[in-house]
Amino acid sequence: MSGKAWGGRFQKSAEAWVDEFGASIGFDQQLVTEDIEGSIAHVTMLGECGILKADEVEAIKGGLEQLKIKADHNELKFKVENEDIHLNLEKMLTDLIGPVGGKLHTGRSRNDQVATDMHLFLKKRVVEVIALIESLQDAIIAQAEDNVETLAPGYTHLQRAQPISFAHHLMTYFWMLERDKQRFTESVKRIDISPLGAGALAGTTFPIDRELSAKLLGFSTVYQNSIDAVSDRDFIVEFLSNGALMMAHLSRFAEEIILWSTDEFKFIDLDDSFSTGSSIMPQKKNPDMAELIRGKAGRTYGNLMGLLTVLKGIPLAYNKDMQEDKEGMFDTLHTIVGALKIFEGMVRTMTVNKNVLHTAVHNDFSNATELADYLAAKGMPFREAHEVTGKLVFTCIKRGIYLLDLTLADMKEGSNLIEEDVYEVLAPEAAVKRRHSLGGTGFDQVKIQLDKAKALRK
Ligand code: ARG
Repeated sequence: MSGKAWGGRFQKSAEAWVDEFGASIGFDQQLVTEDIEGSIAHVTMLGECGILKADEVEAIKGGLEQLKIKADHNELKFKVENEDIHLNLEKMLTDLIGPVGGKLHTGRSRNDQVATDMHLFLKKRVVEVIALIESLQDAIIAQAEDNVETLAPGYTHLQRAQPISFAHHLMTYFWMLERDKQRFTESVKRIDISPLGAGALAGTTFPIDRELSAKLLGFSTVYQNSIDAVSDRDFIVEFLSNGALMMAHLSRFAEEIILWSTDEFKFIDLDDSFSTGSSIMPQKKNPDMAELIRGKAGRTYGNLMGLLTVLKGIPLAYNKDMQEDKEGMFDTLHTIVGALKIFEGMVRTMTVNKNVLHTAVHNDFSNATELADYLAAKGMPFREAHEVTGKLVFTCIKRGIYLLDLTLADMKEGSNLIEEDVYEVLAPEAAVKRRHSLGGTGFDQVKIQLDKAKALRK
């Protein structure tokens, strides 16, 4: 006697705080729409297969549809004593239409039911995530198009390395996101499988039609093994992994945005609408949104590690441990959706300080490779050219000047191969322009790259 849907073999009830520990309704209520959809498909199939009578199917469907309307209006009152979304809805259904509601669970278990809900839920959400990735890609393209000929220092080791087109730098994130998009897209074929009809683990004695319920739910195929159907959480791990890797990309970008908006760099200004102030220091404008995205990457890694760890030791088939698949999945979804939306706005509205970038790239040694290449092109072995250039850089450092400030006589101290034409070669514009190699930073290549990116967005 426990008053539970499964209470028949129990002599006493658990205390409320024990029920509370086991309940998932606090978070799995987010699956309400999918749970009702799954039930409607299941009962329709039971009717088609002659397992339930037409009037029973009609009564159950009618009840479920009423619950759906209430769910859409946020009018359902879920109770912890009813444990999870499945039992809450079943209780509401029988309260609404009477004992016939109890026939809904024929030939089904909560194990295939919850797996079905998760598949339905993720299938929809991944599509939304992909659309948000594309909006961010478009914002990146827009900024890049405006900055093809904006010269900027390119870095390695966070030390000035070689001059680049700022668009080239920005577009790097386009391609990272393109791969993220591919990963999410490819994952759909592993989400798009119906576990419904697997029962608790072994299938069912009722003459059900799994392909029919799958079709009604829009799934492309069904699991071929009922144990696998209720035990598989790979598709959730994959979602968490794709989300975590995408957050690694956004976090790198966020870190650059934070650096670029410092007084030390000043390469960009973030729009006021994506910045915050300080409660004590009136001058402050902080890149909080970018910092939060960098910070939130951590929780998505945690969610991935969490689920991998939950799964590693559990025997087949369903174990209650698997209820732990949900909170991390909801959290990662919520985090990546928020991060993508914020990022899109932040990138679209930021101001690129072209003059600061221009000055930066004209006041550094990022053209040193050009001098080495110039000497090598004149026949000097590259290693020697590297050495000669390094020595000239050292001369400049001692005198507090840059390579372009050296007189031809100074240069000739390094090598007699150096002629007047060296000044053209050392100009940062020339350094960028001449990098025609495929995928390089040359303006022509960046334009080709942008065309390819735009074609992908058509
Ligand atoms: N709330 C459960 C979960 O999320 C539903 C499945 C329960 N199945 C069971 N046999 N206890 O995993």
